[in-house]
Amino acid sequence: GFADKGEYRHFMEKEIHEQPDAIAHTLSRYVDVDAGRFNTGDLLDWAHINRLLSTACGTAFYAGAIGKHWFEAHARLAVEIDVASEFRYRDPVIGPNDAALFISQSGETADTLAALRYCKAAGAKTLAVVNVAESSIAREADAIAQTQAGPEIGVASTKAFTAQLTALACLAIGAGRVRGVLTEADEARFVTELLEAPRLINAALASEPQIEAIAHRLTQVRDVLYLGRGVYHPLAMEGALKLKEISYIHAEGYAAGELKHGPIALIEEGTPVVVAAPYDALFEKTLSNMQEVAARGAEVILITDDKGASLAGDGAAHVVTMPDCPDLIRPIVAAAPIQLLAYHTASLKGTDVDQPRNLAKSVTVE
Ligand code: G6P
Repeated sequence: GFADKGEYRHFMEKEIHEQPDAIAHTLSRYVDVDAGRFNTGDLLDWAHINRLLSTACGTAFYAGAIGKHWFEAHARLAVEIDVASEFRYRDPVIGPNDAALFISQSGETADTLAALRYCKAAGAKTLAVVNVAESSIAREADAIAQTQAGPEIGVASTKAFTAQLTALACLAIGAGRVRGVLTEADEARFVTELLEAPRLINAALASEPQIEAIAHRLTQVRDVLYLGRGVYHPLAMEGALKLKEISYIHAEGYAAGELKHGPIALIEEGTPVVVAAPYDALFEKTLSNMQEVAARGAEVILITDDKGASLAGDGAAHVVTMPDCPDLIRPIVAAAPIQLLAYHTASLKGTDVDQPRNLAKSVTVE
């Protein structure tokens, strides 16, 4: 059951391993497998909106930042992302053709709820991606897309994140159909691809023993840099967030292309740099950033797939390989090694992984 740890040492580890189910259950809600269709096309008036304002906190914010790529690529819908604590204080422009999306595991985060109320008062239609159906955000939004991750107990979010990504992918493809960007054949192909996600993330979890060995090394360091491009930029930020939350090691996520505008100054002999770069259209560019830090002595931990590993050359001290995946689900699968690295580093350090100091599962005060 969800309330006991079973064979695992921590809820976080258990929840990392529950991701194939969390994703499969979420998909079962938004996908009609036999018809090859998504049922997300009427959750908002996708055809008539010009812009989606996507707001959340913490890990849910990074899910939204990855989702932005999908709405833009597959639905040609402009998305603006904000952390909820900033959104309502800057007098944001909300037009008649804007809709607002809120992402929250708990559905109770005070800033996200306040942003939702702000958008409703401004007249925008609101859609919430929430894990807890009996929550304030779920109740107050005009429409909800519930994730089916089940109860998440570890303070650091894992399965809720990949379930959010899954729901966001389904929303973006549904929107793309309604907006006339995707054909029926495209939609059917995306159904097939998403249905592979539970199996592929399960395969990615098989690198756990190798990641644990790398984590031994990270327990010795003070700072870790995470780099990525495209969808792996938010994933790099999420990886850095996970590591600092539970291991108390300073970590920073950066767009790989911004490296030379600052963070490269931090690189010295032995600085650990996690490069999130499964093979995609941006792989070669990220690889060249990896080589730049490796040439300056960084100890690179490359998170890639089979194809990327075959092309990576020898700049990386450690190569963690996940299976090759279709474009759409690749960042979902890549979350697993990122989470495992943080988890094992913290676990080896002996921190209170499920209840890290100073953090709360649900931040219900501003
Ligand atoms: C807290 C939790 C995070 C979570 C964030 C947003 O900071 O520790 O794991 O990502 O709140 O929470 P929500 O419930 O809105 O997703």
